[in-house]
Amino acid sequence: MTSINEQLTEHFSQALVDAFGSDFAEVSPLVVPASNPKFGDYQCNIALSLAKKLGEKPRNIAQKIVDNLSLEELGEIPTIAGPGFINIKLKTNYVETQLKLSQTNPRLAIEKADPSQKVIVDFSSPNIAKEMHVGHLRSTIIGDCIARILEFRGHEVLRLNHVGDWGTQFGMLIAYLKEVYPDALTTADVLEIGDLVAFYKQAKQRFDEDETFKETARNQVVKLQAGDEVTRRAWQLLCDQSRREFQIIYDILDIKLTERGESFYNPFLENIVKDLDKQGLLEEDAGAQCVFLEGFTNKAGDPLPLIVQKSDGGYNYATTDLAALKYRIQEDQAERIIYVTDAGQTNHFAQVFQVAKKAKIISDNVEVIHVPFGLVKGEDGKKLKTRSGTTIKLRDLLDEAVNYARQDLEKRLKEEQRKESQEFIDNVSQVVGISAVKYADLSQNRNSDYIFSYNKMLALQGNTAPYMLYAYARIQSISREGNIDFKQLGKKAQIILKEETEIELGKYLLQFSEAIEEVENTLLPNRLCDYLYELSKKFNRFYENCPVLKSEEPLKTSRLLLCHLTARTLNLGLSLLGISVLERM
Ligand code: ARG
Repeated sequence: MTSINEQLTEHFSQALVDAFGSDFAEVSPLVVPASNPKFGDYQCNIALSLAKKLGEKPRNIAQKIVDNLSLEELGEIPTIAGPGFINIKLKTNYVETQLKLSQTNPRLAIEKADPSQKVIVDFSSPNIAKEMHVGHLRSTIIGDCIARILEFRGHEVLRLNHVGDWGTQFGMLIAYLKEVYPDALTTADVLEIGDLVAFYKQAKQRFDEDETFKETARNQVVKLQAGDEVTRRAWQLLCDQSRREFQIIYDILDIKLTERGESFYNPFLENIVKDLDKQGLLEEDAGAQCVFLEGFTNKAGDPLPLIVQKSDGGYNYATTDLAALKYRIQEDQAERIIYVTDAGQTNHFAQVFQVAKKAKIISDNVEVIHVPFGLVKGEDGKKLKTRSGTTIKLRDLLDEAVNYARQDLEKRLKEEQRKESQEFIDNVSQVVGISAVKYADLSQNRNSDYIFSYNKMLALQGNTAPYMLYAYARIQSISREGNIDFKQLGKKAQIILKEETEIELGKYLLQFSEAIEEVENTLLPNRLCDYLYELSKKFNRFYENCPVLKSEEPLKTSRLLLCHLTARTLNLGLSLLGISVLERM
């Protein structure tokens, strides 16, 4: 089914043409869900914005639109309110029929996108020999959710991990390890990632203080780039070490990614610079090769350069991103490329995109988008730290969430005098803890900073993962209590919407596809969280007001069908957030 919003939009577009002529075929009728259910379910606000163009009172325009509108089985005759809003109320009968169709639709009436696109989501992307930090965690969670939604919509998604595995830092690190711990460069598994990070810091210090060491480090980079076998093997070992550590986090979070790090693009960098030169875009500035940018100036108001080759001949993060863009468009044939990083990289991407457009690396049919997000802060509003003031390791942060979830669960089991197996306790704590971290991140508008609080994310009330998981488990308990197999509910059984709260729930279930499409367009996962939260609340109101197991047939089966549809919607919605449900908790 096309979403209700889309169907209404089509009807209104037709009415506009019928009322005012074919010039109005391209005007979007601005159909939105009603701001207040009192006014109906949807509203169309176009009359107000056409007043000037048509030289008529908006109310008259609204009347003409309504006179030409036929909503068929979809809605009641629209009413006009205030200065010219058109309010639409869906026909209950229509809602019932659509819900009935969803009952047998494994995709819950969410259509596949047509045409489907080739999309690249560049996310997570930590750096080798450095600790993966909370910024990477946000990128991982948000990027995975975006990828899941696009995949479900039928797009062909390539999930790329653009790891920082190349650059002068490796020369430095290898040179240093040669001195202090040569085994690490020849033998696998002798290093822990923690050691690697410590060595990295020490190497950096040496590099900054010691000129001779700097020279040695530079020589190592040259060797690495020239493909010297011993150096390459050392580099490979360091990468493997980090990779294993990253994989632990990905496994805990259930994240699938294809690694294609910066080093992959190394062979193409030289040509990128040559190409820019051929197109007359390159300028030399203090020995560096640059492209001057529009709209980016220094304090004095002079245009800023994007440096693509440093004076020592080395290439930059930006050069690699230009090469990556070219490869992704030409070789991968991507039509939409999405980069999920912290907002601190907004300028970097704007600059790279600008240069890539100038150099025609990005063609007109390709959309490139930076999806920025804010910082993760501690409850004190400052940078997230451990109690002793050191930076938090991701692994510890996730373990801690699971531990808190376990404590909560054990307390609850005691209160309810329930006895559960160790396996049950382990599984529920793991799912609740990890889901809580994911959901806390996704439910915020990603553009804002967010406060990391175990207490808040694990609360049973409010817009949290536990609340959502509960709503789902509660519905499953209805089926257990009534000894009912939801899946066996009759294909012929009717859906009958009578009470206000069940009509509301029914209508809201049909808006699921609108929520999904919204995330697809805005790339804001919190819109899906908002929808699921609202759905759970609507379900709870329905359940408080409408007896299910105790009502008579045919209402009983109808209500069970509504329960099942709600559970399926929650299940699917949560799975698109990367969260798996629990039958019992
Ligand atoms: N490695 C980078 C970082 O840790 C993120 C890379 C993002 N992707 C990209 N194509 N630049 O900040």
